[in-house]
Amino acid sequence: MHRAIVFDELTAAYCRARSDAVVVSVGIGLDTRAERLAGALPPSVTWLGVDMPDVVELRATLLPRDRARVFPTSITEPDWAERLLPLVGHSSARAPGAGAGSPAWRPAGNGSATTG
Ligand SMILES: C[S@@+](CC[C@H](N)C(=O)[O-])C[C@H]1O[C@@H](n2cnc3c(N)ncnc32)[C@H](O)[C@@H]1O
Repeated sequence: MHRAIVFDELTAAYCRARSDAVVVSVGIGLDTRAERLAGALPPSVTWLGVDMPDVVELRATLLPRDRARVFPTSITEPDWAERLLPLVGHSSARAPGAGAGSPAWRPAGNGSATTG
């Protein structure tokens, strides 16, 4: 079986069992798992991604209706995970299938995260 199908099924099963799940796709690139699983997950699941700023920009161009909320940062930054925490449960964070038009998070001048 294709690796992507296996991870789709594992992710969906986990999220169905835990409706408050937070998916963090580290190095999300152009991955479209959030799109593939749209409608198959509880709307309360939060789907986040992180990648390098230039990749996040490319992703926003190619996937303007991205279902993942994507945060531009390098995971070599020591505080990258901590900076995601305030975004978990944020009212604008949403699960695949919970709506359209998700602007990517972009770093503010001080490096903190904000919606763009
Ligand atoms: C092989 S791609 C995989 C993309 C996606 N996960 C998929 O399965 O299609 C690896 C991704 O990791 C990202 N990446 C590499 N180093 C990174 C870092 N230090 N911080 C964040 N993302 C990084 C790359 O930009 C790239 O998008």
